[in-house]
Amino acid sequence: MNILVIGSGGREHALAWKLAQSKHEPKLYAVPGNPGMAEIAECIAGVSIADNSALVSLAKEKAIDFVVVGPEVPLMNGVVDAMEAAGIKAFGPKKAAAEIEGSKAFSKNLMKKYGIPTAKYEVFTDAEEARAYVEKEGAPIVIKADGLAAGKGVIVAETLGDARDAVDEILSGKAFGTAGNRVVIEEFMMGEEASLLAFTDGKTICPMVSSQDHKRAFDGDKGPNTGGMGTYAPAPVMTSDMVERATDEILKPVIAAMAKEGRPYAGCLYAGLMITEEGPKVVEFNARFGDPETQVVLPLLVSDLVDIMLACTDGTLGGMKIEWSAASSVCVVMASGGYPKAYPKGFPIDGLTKAKAAGTLVFHAGTAEKDGQIVTAGGRVLGVVAKAANVKEAAFAAYKGVSAISFEGAFYRRDIAHRALERMK
Ligand code: AMP
Ligand code: GLY
Repeated sequence: MNILVIGSGGREHALAWKLAQSKHEPKLYAVPGNPGMAEIAECIAGVSIADNSALVSLAKEKAIDFVVVGPEVPLMNGVVDAMEAAGIKAFGPKKAAAEIEGSKAFSKNLMKKYGIPTAKYEVFTDAEEARAYVEKEGAPIVIKADGLAAGKGVIVAETLGDARDAVDEILSGKAFGTAGNRVVIEEFMMGEEASLLAFTDGKTICPMVSSQDHKRAFDGDKGPNTGGMGTYAPAPVMTSDMVERATDEILKPVIAAMAKEGRPYAGCLYAGLMITEEGPKVVEFNARFGDPETQVVLPLLVSDLVDIMLACTDGTLGGMKIEWSAASSVCVVMASGGYPKAYPKGFPIDGLTKAKAAGTLVFHAGTAEKDGQIVTAGGRVLGVVAKAANVKEAAFAAYKGVSAISFEGAFYRRDIAHRALERMK
């Protein structure tokens, strides 16, 4: 079986790593992939992942049987539709279904229509009306650009002044370009966040083990928002009772709602949740696997990922038994100095073999190969992952792996999994 993975980050490396273990023994291709993925997949350069027809041509040329899409951009562009039109199976939602991530206004309206718990909100295009709503609701309040803004289009405004400034910046197009043509203004939800990813074929939905991301750059959840500085799984806030509630109150209803809207959703659905006093509420939906959630969730998957993904695509997930390990895993992201702002690149990375020998998985995110040496090439450079009997041992092992690796300017959070560790005290 020939499988093509689209994407080049830590998430895609983790996907390829798990796919490679399948009993189907797939021949893996990655476009564009990264030097870590190159150890298990043939990486193809020079094809844009935003160009559907180029991707379809590539899939035909390599006789691809199954395409696995990592990032949101190709999904929003309808790459799954394009592959299917060419007779090639692809894992991920079609364009109409990917709108659940592509437009916050769409997903908020869907949740309102179908009674799925989320923060109260209104959508505005007019700055005057948006400001009036902010005055009426008061602070803290959350202001979001409607479209894709690489995870950065959200401002949690502590004061009315900050909220007014955020509205002006988004609607003027200065902050996020056309992603800010519409602004979503939301009630501030208090609670602990968790990520619940799920496999779905559009009818059946199976939650994966829960996880928790660390979005702020620095220890103690301080500093600017990032793509994610580390994760662990499972998240203790997601007790079995809470997973059941989230499945019954959120996952199942949203899949039924998407089908009813004529946008059947198949693939991985990512529910970003706030666990409030009233129960789980949706912060956001993503149409893809989380990054770096995937790096901790997939090491805990016992079942064959190829079988599960094919079942999602073929509509045969119902009745399938998906097995998870009872262990815990922790991912520490090693980033370039300066990230999430501008950072220099091209620094040699040492100790990768040592970290692997110590038993950690090292998923590449922003790396490149230069004259036979792996160098830094992105903000988030590596995800160092360890799996152990409990989260404390997993964190200890992950940090041992991190300490084996070095590159100029490297920085990472030293408190990944702190919420779970505090609970163990
Ligand atoms: P999003 O891109 O929608 O996931 O938002 C980014 C981050 O902003 C989330 O991970 C939360 O920490 C925070 N956030 C978003 N919406 C809310 C809300 N309604 N209440 C509290 N925090 C929020
Ligand atoms: N870790 C956050 C995301 O993938 O959106």
